[in-house]
Amino acid sequence: MRERQTPLTKEIQNYIYENFNAEDELLSEISNQCWAEATIPQINITGYQANFLQFLIKAIDAKNILEIGTLAGYSAIVMARASSAKAKILTIEKEKKHADYAMKKIAEAGFSNKIKVQVEDARQFVKHFTPQTKLDFIFLDANKSSYSQYFDELAPHLRQGGMIVADNAFAFGFLLDSAPERNPKGVRSMLSFHKHILERNDFFTTIVPIGDGMLISLKK
Ligand SMILES: C[S@@+](CC[C@H](N)C(=O)[O-])C[C@H]1O[C@@H](n2cnc3c(N)ncnc32)[C@H](O)[C@@H]1O
Repeated sequence: MRERQTPLTKEIQNYIYENFNAEDELLSEISNQCWAEATIPQINITGYQANFLQFLIKAIDAKNILEIGTLAGYSAIVMARASSAKAKILTIEKEKKHADYAMKKIAEAGFSNKIKVQVEDARQFVKHFTPQTKLDFIFLDANKSSYSQYFDELAPHLRQGGMIVADNAFAFGFLLDSAPERNPKGVRSMLSFHKHILERNDFFTTIVPIGDGMLISLKK
């Protein structure tokens, strides 16, 4: 029988990381030192996911970008590097400590004018957010249990042909586990998020097995 999916061996993974990796010295420093410098967990996207996000941003020439979940600024810097000089990125973070550290790193990367970090709980933010210009690209990477809320409240602000990308679509590998040892509520909510967006006829959605899985929805 034809293999449905070529297994991702260590060799292939290493090959991918050697050739399709957006991580440079500054990004590697952020990822490797955020815990030692500011007790911020090292849970940013990988360099390969960064390369993939950059590909998507370039493909649709995203200029108005919203991120939910800043952490140390790694993915915001990644998106800033891929977008044109006129692009703007707003990134929402509920932990002030994370936001402060991210702002420092964003300044070091030279993007203080392009990226704005807003300290707020995104569950509140999406209720009052009214952008002046429609968004091109939304990256969801905060508390997984609110993904459906974020999607529904932000979808009206997205332009036709815009994208919503959601990380951790495989719920840290527990997506299909009937008794997950880690965060069962989060796992159930990720499954219901999948179902929810697959039912939306105004979006075309796919899933990519990269990192912990990314769901990508394109507004029709
Ligand atoms: C996985 S990290 C984001 C990683 C980041 N996108 C990157 O790849 O560099 C998740 C972040 O979302 C933040 N967060 C969690 N719940 C949130 C909420 N309700 N509103 C805003 N931020 C939240 C956490 O504090 C954490 O910094």
